[in-house]
Amino acid sequence: MAVSSSTRVLLVGAGAQLAGALIERLTPACTLIPRTRPQLDVTSARAVDEAVAEVAPDVVVNCASFNDVDGAERDPVTALRVNGLAVGHLADACRRSGAVLVHYSTDFVFDPVVDPGMLREDDPLSPGSIYAQSKLLGEVLARRAPRHYVLRVASLFGGRRGHSSLDRIASALDGGAPVKAFANRTVTPSYVVDLAEALVATLDRAVPYGLYHCVNTGRTTWVDVATALARALGRNPAELVVPTPFDPAMFPARRPTYAALSNAAIAAHGVVLPGWEDAIMRFARARARADDA
Ligand SMILES: NC(=O)c1ccc[n+]([C@@H]2O[C@H](COP(=O)([O-])OP(=O)(O)OC[C@H]3O[C@@H](n4cnc5c(N)ncnc54)[C@H](OP(=O)(O)O)[C@@H]3O)[C@@H](O)[C@H]2O)c1
Repeated sequence: MAVSSSTRVLLVGAGAQLAGALIERLTPACTLIPRTRPQLDVTSARAVDEAVAEVAPDVVVNCASFNDVDGAERDPVTALRVNGLAVGHLADACRRSGAVLVHYSTDFVFDPVVDPGMLREDDPLSPGSIYAQSKLLGEVLARRAPRHYVLRVASLFGGRRGHSSLDRIASALDGGAPVKAFANRTVTPSYVVDLAEALVATLDRAVPYGLYHCVNTGRTTWVDVATALARALGRNPAELVVPTPFDPAMFPARRPTYAALSNAAIAAHGVVLPGWEDAIMRFARARARADDA
């Protein structure tokens, strides 16, 4: 589906950090209809049906999510309703209307015991927390829409809310404050600007429907991310970045130690995401521009 000004895109969960980048990228490219939580609660099947009937979208993009990983252990019902059942409501509405569903999932559906290298879409799943289990339920229910993209993303940064781990590290480094960063937790960070570009490319190129890993290219650790960010911000990482060992037992909810996603499958369809270091550089430049403005 080539994205054009006549393409109608309903964006739900439009207050999300990722949604901000999508709104910026999609607004000039298509007819975007954003709905925040007060405008559309996705846990209501009826509200979802009414919104899809009213908007008549070609594409529904779901950014609504209960992302409080530790909070989900205390409130599993809300996590399962928002991250799981609500995706079923959206998928059913898309099935009936013929719209494409774009749904975002997470690297937390994996939790391998030993380092498996880069994880592919069909590698064994082991969601180790309520949050991860609720997101996996969402992946399954998204398939009720015959035309769906489930895009697994990881460690988002650069969103308008500025509340991600990486945004917080950037703020601390900006202020010259030392930051602790896990030395042994493997990740594939995802710059929201690059995810927005990847979504447009996925639709434009009519990538076959299905499940894809959609993250910046390459794998890293939080120490290496913080080090690259410090350099990009003109700070001395040796002074400010404090490597810390990661132990899954240190949080109420389990987090994977090794969760580096391979984006080779989506790249094979021409959706090539920039490397994570390049993304960090652009993120640092964008922060500097925003500070100057
Ligand atoms: N952040 C990450 O590092 C990360 C990592 C892996 C995967 N992901 C996935 O990427 C996607 C986007 O994440 P994000 O970090 O951009 O999200 P976010 O900033 O945490 O925002 C989530 C949004 O969902 C909204 N929401 C919650 N319950 C809702 C409901 N019942 N109905 C409608 N909207 C509801 C929230 O509304 P309010 O604004 O009212 O709170 C909020 O705007 C999610 O699917 C997430 O699981 C994120």
